[in-house]
Amino acid sequence: MLNATSAHPTALEEPPSQCSGEVGIWLRRAACAKPCRIALLVNLARNAKPAPRRITPPDLLVELDSDANVQSYARALQDGGHEVLIREGDPYLAEWLDEQRPDLCFNTCEGFRGDSREAQIPALLEMMGVRYTGPTPLAAAITHDKPTTKRILHFYGLPTPPFQVFETPDDLLRPELEFPLFVKPAHEGTGMGVHNESVVHDERALRDRVAWCIEAYQQPALVETFIEGRDLTCGLVGNGQRVHFFPITEVDFSGYPPELLPIYGSIQKVDLDHLYRNKCPAPIGPKLTAAVQQLTHQTFLVTGCRDFARVDFRLDAHDRLFILEINALPGIAPRSDLTLMAEAEGWTHGELVRSVLGAALIRYNMVSFEHGLR
Ligand SMILES: Nc1ncnc2c1ncn2[C@@H]1O[C@H](COP(=O)(O)OP(=O)(O)OP(=O)(O)O)[C@@H](O)[C@H]1O
Ligand SMILES: [Mg+2]
Repeated sequence: MLNATSAHPTALEEPPSQCSGEVGIWLRRAACAKPCRIALLVNLARNAKPAPRRITPPDLLVELDSDANVQSYARALQDGGHEVLIREGDPYLAEWLDEQRPDLCFNTCEGFRGDSREAQIPALLEMMGVRYTGPTPLAAAITHDKPTTKRILHFYGLPTPPFQVFETPDDLLRPELEFPLFVKPAHEGTGMGVHNESVVHDERALRDRVAWCIEAYQQPALVETFIEGRDLTCGLVGNGQRVHFFPITEVDFSGYPPELLPIYGSIQKVDLDHLYRNKCPAPIGPKLTAAVQQLTHQTFLVTGCRDFARVDFRLDAHDRLFILEINALPGIAPRSDLTLMAEAEGWTHGELVRSVLGAALIRYNMVSFEHGLR
């Protein structure tokens, strides 16, 4: 049900050259070039009804949104001149979309059930032929599953910590994996299942943590070499070679209670958000900055991401970078890492949201380029 409005794209300047500083301006302008009817698809924590389970971890719903966040996305899109219809991304979405016929969906749905929860809404939209922001079902499923992402990174020679997937707590530990190791759920986000106990120094602690992880999150446990070092994250908006990098962020762990290890888990991200401090841009020098940006871009391309993404790294004492994961549907709430890095270079939250929309409008040829870039 592609809407006919794409037959009359609105004129805009010529696209800027690859990865230039002008890409960000171009994306934000594209987002306001033509008023659209946008379906803002959301998953609110208050609408989630998780099935009962033996262990219910306290961070089970931290990926899901609040009403205040949803209002902030809606305002950002309305400020670009668009009509916004807000709708929960639930199993009854198809009928509603058929009635409403939006020009495009702004998808923020994380899902809350299943191995490929972030891929569920994109799959429905793809099947219906509706345009949408963010990853395709394929990219969403690949990137939601950290082991699958890591296998792809490995194939392309991109650095990621050595790892093993544990389907049961009794799986044989591969001898090349040396302690300390790090245990986390194979496919979660927002630091779910990442706590002090994730760092394990012997086989007994490893098996205990793997058992807890499998039971609490009902999925395999990803066991990686523990990378002692700094936490970096790099965000971008755009597509293909025309992307805009935001300043790289380093998490500053000095504001958290000393009993918490310097790892960025759900307690730090959610419960202690008020203590969060960062360094943005990260003080890592031009060479490492360029390396982080290049790895971010390569990860974005090889996983087939679209419109925006955020790649998380650990940097060890020898300045070696390790890619932990790519967030194909990164948080863009007013307090999200991507927002804070955009704000660090002077963007507003609204401009960030609209740049994601702009990337999608350009990708779908809903804006045209008739004048030279001024
Ligand atoms: N192999 C590792 N070595 C050291 N620390 C790690 C490792 N893996 C994860 N961490 C720590 O745990 C944090 C969360 O890990 P990761 O980014 O994989 O999880 P996430 O929940 O998907 O994150 P997000 O909130 O970005 O979705 C990292 O930022 C880092 O501090
Ligand atoms: Mg992460």
